[in-house]
Amino acid sequence: MRIIAVAMTKGGVGKTTTAVNLSHGLALRGQRVLLVDTDTQGQCAKALGVQADLTLTEVLLGEASILHAVTRARENLDLVASNHHLSRAALAIARRETDGHLALAEALDPVSDRYDVVVLDAAPGVDAIAVNVLGCADEIVAPVALSPAALAGVLDFVRHVERVSRHNAKLHLKYFLPTFLDLRIKQSGEMLIQLREHFCDRVCSAIRVNVELSESFGWRQSIFEYAPKSRGATDYSAFIDLVSENDSAVTSGQTEADLVEV
Ligand SMILES: Nc1ncnc2c1ncn2[C@@H]1O[C@H](COP(=O)(O)OP(=O)(O)OP(=O)(O)O)[C@@H](O)[C@H]1O
Ligand SMILES: [Mg+2]
Repeated sequence: MRIIAVAMTKGGVGKTTTAVNLSHGLALRGQRVLLVDTDTQGQCAKALGVQADLTLTEVLLGEASILHAVTRARENLDLVASNHHLSRAALAIARRETDGHLALAEALDPVSDRYDVVVLDAAPGVDAIAVNVLGCADEIVAPVALSPAALAGVLDFVRHVERVSRHNAKLHLKYFLPTFLDLRIKQSGEMLIQLREHFCDRVCSAIRVNVELSESFGWRQSIFEYAPKSRGATDYSAFIDLVSENDSAVTSGQTEADLVEV
């Protein structure tokens, strides 16, 4: 079972949009996927139009097995939802004297042979749950919104990952996913170039600004359901192909010439 965390300490960069569409895209390619929402905002269930009785809170507090908290969202795609009660679990984990950073890894153990991929949608910030997310992941997808001053936040996140990886040797910050690319805004393209200078072939082809991506949320659908011919669907499909290939290095394939057409 491959555990992929979609994480970035900065808020509003496209983590949930990426986690939901990555999960559904992998499910449509025939992989058995579990999407786990680890954010008190509980956006994943809303994004997919799913109602869940049990959530990650009960699982992390030891009140329910993850096997009972899983809800079917689509063919090949299950969800463990979250809501604002997750902050109770975060407090309980933070108070644990030992092994607090392993609570999520332990919670996922019973489903390890049921799924090919677990996708963890991380919350912004750095609380006990966020440390748990990185504590059990194999790979990180780090969405980076192409806005001015974003790079400083990314470098902070990279340092945070380095600290956590002392406890999780398999953790690999594998994909930097540029989001909100808008070449009508000069800084957007400049920011992409800077990102590539820093992180080279780990920088994936960018996700362009696309209104259908935000609209799909309101319709409780993934982009592949709501607007399969949109830019958002095209860009996320290219990213999912890359993740499916599971190459050790990422080669963007996107040239400056490709970026002219927005
Ligand atoms: N490429 C895009 N083009 C247009 N809108 C987008 C795009 N990606 C995401 N959005 C919209 O931007 C907003 C923020 O995205 P999202 O919720 O995925 O970010 P997040 O990183 O999960 O936020 P948070 O840190 O609060 O969890 C949402 O309204 C989403 O629909
Ligand atoms: Mg989110």
